[in-house]
Amino acid sequence: MTDPQISIRNLCVDYITDSGDVRAVNNVSFDIGKGEVFGLAGESGCGKSTVAFSLMRLHKPPAFITGGEVFFDGHGDILKKTDMAMSAFRWSEMSMVFQSAMNALNPVLTMEEQFCDVIMRHTNMTRKQAIRRAEGLLEIVDIHPSRLRDYPHQFSGGMRQRLVIAIALALNPKMIIMDEPTTALDVVVQREILQKIYALKEEFGFSILFITHDLSLMVEFSDRIGIMYSGELIEVAPSKQILETPYHPYTEGLGSSFPPLTGPKTRLTGIPGNPLNLLEIPQGCRFQARCGKTHPACFSTPTQLSQIEPGRLSNCHLFTNTGN
Ligand SMILES: Nc1ncnc2c1ncn2[C@@H]1O[C@H](COP(=O)(O)OP(=O)(O)OP(=O)(O)O)[C@@H](O)[C@H]1O
Ligand SMILES: [Mg+2]
Repeated sequence: MTDPQISIRNLCVDYITDSGDVRAVNNVSFDIGKGEVFGLAGESGCGKSTVAFSLMRLHKPPAFITGGEVFFDGHGDILKKTDMAMSAFRWSEMSMVFQSAMNALNPVLTMEEQFCDVIMRHTNMTRKQAIRRAEGLLEIVDIHPSRLRDYPHQFSGGMRQRLVIAIALALNPKMIIMDEPTTALDVVVQREILQKIYALKEEFGFSILFITHDLSLMVEFSDRIGIMYSGELIEVAPSKQILETPYHPYTEGLGSSFPPLTGPKTRLTGIPGNPLNLLEIPQGCRFQARCGKTHPACFSTPTQLSQIEPGRLSNCHLFTNTGN
């Protein structure tokens, strides 16, 4: 990994509701290097979007950040920034393409208004300069600059997605969070857009936190991948290794839930059982009820993400010896 752009340390996020407090993100720590694509995977409800929103400090009640630090290169701990300092930081240093990006555009404003709004709010540019910048951004995502005066509904789904990505790029951020950036698109357009994002990343050098349910896309486009389970990060590895030689039984299960990218067809087995109810966290490992490899420590000793070998981290007692 290159020097870290962002270092997340022991991030905890709770949803505080009438039916109880839910710890949706528990002690999550990872770094993303400068220019690195870090993929975050795991089944629905494991906390990926909660991490993403918390890093941008766009989480809303009942979600509260209850612990941890988030160091961003040159800024110290961004969780300690005032709201005003965070507004200046957001979009210019770190931007985000939302899970429902297709709905992120305002249907009653032309794209020119929407680009100018973002650019002029964060810079000293005049309207004329902002329009010129917006035209340049459209060209970057392969849309003709004359389309700037069109409304969102006049664009296809793939083009709208590229517009949202262009807005995320508008202020040359050092990091972009992409939460399911292409889920609503067909597979061909998905791949085209990801290739475009990758080319832009190579050109401008930003880092990416990439969240998707599509593990094969994630392996293709990420340098490293972190796997979350029930609010915890349970494995981190280079993307080429994570499914081939998984350490954590959950990662192994994820790998056998997807067809392999290469090689012969194999039977998909999946992972038995259901995700954990976050209101009923067991003692020991959170994956214990679904794991075929448990031993006594798994039912008594909490797990902790630890280095198993250089570049490989897991929180499974089978490898960490924390329970022996
Ligand atoms: N407003 C809320 N109140 C209570 N709990 C919530 C709320 N929003 C989310 N959660 C809980 O937080 C957990 C994490 O949700 P999150 O949306 O971060 O998951 P995710 O990994 O992004 O899922 P998906 O893959 O479906 O997008 C879930 O268990 C969810 O039930
Ligand atoms: Mg999500």
